[in-house]
Amino acid sequence: MKKNKIYIKSYGCQMNIYDSNRILDLFKNKDYVITKNPEDANLVVLNTCHIREKAAEKVYSDIGRINKIKQNRSQDDIQLVIAGCVAQAEGQEIKKRAPSVDYVVGPQSYHKLPEMLKKNDSFISDEFTQNEKFKNLLYNSSGGVSEFVSIQEGCDKFCSFCVVPYTRGPEFSRPVNEIVNEIEKYLKQGVKEIIFLGQNVNAYHGDGENGKSRDLAYLINKVSELESLKRIRYMTSHPIDMTNSLIKVHKTNNKLMPFLHLPIQSGSNKVLKKMNRKHTVEFYKKIVDKLRDERSDIALSSDFIVGYPDESDKDFEDTMKFVDEVKFVIAYSFMYSQRPGTPAQKKDNIPLAEKKARLSALQSLLKNQQKNYNNSFIEKNMEILFEKKGRYKNQYIGRSIYNQSVFINSEKNLINKVENVNIVRSTNFALESMF
Ligand code: SAH
Ligand code: SF4
Ligand code: F3S
Repeated sequence: MKKNKIYIKSYGCQMNIYDSNRILDLFKNKDYVITKNPEDANLVVLNTCHIREKAAEKVYSDIGRINKIKQNRSQDDIQLVIAGCVAQAEGQEIKKRAPSVDYVVGPQSYHKLPEMLKKNDSFISDEFTQNEKFKNLLYNSSGGVSEFVSIQEGCDKFCSFCVVPYTRGPEFSRPVNEIVNEIEKYLKQGVKEIIFLGQNVNAYHGDGENGKSRDLAYLINKVSELESLKRIRYMTSHPIDMTNSLIKVHKTNNKLMPFLHLPIQSGSNKVLKKMNRKHTVEFYKKIVDKLRDERSDIALSSDFIVGYPDESDKDFEDTMKFVDEVKFVIAYSFMYSQRPGTPAQKKDNIPLAEKKARLSALQSLLKNQQKNYNNSFIEKNMEILFEKKGRYKNQYIGRSIYNQSVFINSEKNLINKVENVNIVRSTNFALESMF
């Protein structure tokens, strides 16, 4: 029998990659094979992101491209599904703007997709039925060394600029045993590293044994008992949920990697207040001090928004000073983008040219910090978990404990191995090594 082909494209964050893997699981089980070419596909899934205007608009231009492919094929031969956060936020609008879309499924209801396709009747599914989703998914490793595991979803923080509380719904944590079972499945398939995911992963509070609520520190310790699991990471964390018990685990648990992505968004208290971030710059720095007291080599990463409404030159200078002081090993920065339905939506009063200038100044400072950080490892020995082949013959790519990409040439297959290597060179974004 001829197999159907599924093509999936993920936009946005790691949680979407996790969801895309789960969607593929559902269809691989139903006699579909994966294709990397949308022109070959019978089912095209765009798993979308709504975080900034550019990300959302990209979806509509991609729908246009798929539409062209659809025009040369019969209606049942190719179907188009819009999944993810744009589906949740703009389901009805998609229907109006893009009639070629066959189904729309939000991030908490994509488990219904095979059923929807079979019945061929319901266009939209956008309920927030969070736990139900996880009960109806399959958990097959995506074939790599490192696997994402969503342990917490949604957000109750309501930062003024952010769509996530509306696209992913209220905060929700999965039970401990469900997560452990999922990880055990991946480990049997050769996985060595788990990356816990959540929009607010450190707000995790899942049910443990006897219904007792457990925090992320507990979950990390519990999962680290699984022998073949070598490394644990988690992202993304919010400063106000960075508890002392979680900070301590960075010292006491040697499977937990010394890397933390902890977005602050701005180095100005005035802006943080307007953003409804619920913490100050001083509070953030205190957390950094505590983390460095417990684990002096911890590598810190963050997110920044520049050009937030009413951000003055002085506010931006405060962000630059803050970055200069704290020192990040990597960080992501974005120009403020007005998002529908968010409290900050009404205002966008920093001119684009000014936003661009601020972004460029901040990014060159961050790039410099990253370069200096990477340079500091030259001639040092590092423990690397190798994940995949590189572009060249005999080239392998792995990750350091601090999450840097490391390239090496080797005659022997290194995939899935943890090796100590010498760093010989560094670029802005990666390290090169030799045995
Ligand atoms: N949960 C995480 C971040 C989720 S979104 C947290 O609490 O920090 C990822 C990043 O996108 C954010 O950290 C922020 O820097 C950026 N972002 C979110 N909304 C944005 C907007 N409206 N404009 C520009 N950047 C935005
Ligand atoms: Fe968005 Fe703020 Fe929630 Fe992060 S904490 S997901 S930035 S609302
Ligand atoms: Fe984008 Fe949704 Fe993730 S808006 S960043 S895909 S949670």
